[in-house]
Amino acid sequence: MSHSEVNIIMSKRVLVTGPFGQIGSELVPELQDKHGKENVVALGHNYIPDDYEGVLEQGDVKDKEFLESLWEKYDFDVVYHLASLLSATGEKRPDLAWSVNMDGLKNILDLARENDNKVFWASSIAVFGPNTPMDDTPQHTILEPVTMYGVTKVSGELLCQYYNEKFGLDVRGLRYPGLLSWKEKPGGGTTDYAVEMFYKAIQGEKYTCFVREDTQLPMMYMEDAIEGTLQLMEADEEDITIRTSYNHSAISFRADKLVEEIQRYYPDFEVEYEPDERQKNADSWPNSVDDSKAREDWGWDHKYDLEKMAEVMIENLEEKLN
Ligand code: SER
Repeated sequence: MSHSEVNIIMSKRVLVTGPFGQIGSELVPELQDKHGKENVVALGHNYIPDDYEGVLEQGDVKDKEFLESLWEKYDFDVVYHLASLLSATGEKRPDLAWSVNMDGLKNILDLARENDNKVFWASSIAVFGPNTPMDDTPQHTILEPVTMYGVTKVSGELLCQYYNEKFGLDVRGLRYPGLLSWKEKPGGGTTDYAVEMFYKAIQGEKYTCFVREDTQLPMMYMEDAIEGTLQLMEADEEDITIRTSYNHSAISFRADKLVEEIQRYYPDFEVEYEPDERQKNADSWPNSVDDSKAREDWGWDHKYDLEKMAEVMIENLEEKLN
């Protein structure tokens, strides 16, 4: 058997929804390397970057008929379902958040079940709420979110678990913390301030931070998040003991600690704090998360601490922006 024949057999047909968001834009190139560019289908919706190279479809995850036509066309093996409204946008447009996040997920799960696919779905620390223990939040704990985003993530987690138990669907998920990346900006989330700070510091501007200085949230550098996602999807099925979504954690810092870290590079960087409605979201989420289940079950380990993350963010953003 030739090398390319082996490759064709090993390669999987992959669908990525939300391929041009903060996570998707870094996950897609990794999947293209792994499975071959021709085997990864990016399903974009409103925003398609001009420089995207690969198989592209455009449509709405709420549209089941359209999704069915995609499955017919490509015969997918694996789906990474990332399309979602985030917490801040979700509070502005709760009806849309419900339909995109819930109907979109249900459509994907139904098609994946009918076609015996493996599914990755993105959950979030937003599943937690003000009654959840705030420090080292356990895997199994009180889930009473106060945002529409969080409501859709808890409901989505339960739906995933149900499809696994009832229909044997191999669906896996992560409760991502706030994600930092220099490549693509986040859009419409509460943890976006952490990324915005780096941009402002490098552009030599003052930053008005929309959460208080003592706001502490779990965070992660994007490379770790992508690594964890691929690791989870490659793990043996019998090692996966959580079918809602795994707690997934790396670092945790207060807003003012991040400012101090950035000021090591940009001592004149100034920040003022003007908390807005997003403070309520942040206050309802944990300070730090216990992800020992992910570490035990499939060997998760993060590489980036605060210092290392700040260093790569600054190094790369300086090059990108200057
Ligand atoms: N980063 C997300 C948000 O802030 C949380 O999952 O909405």
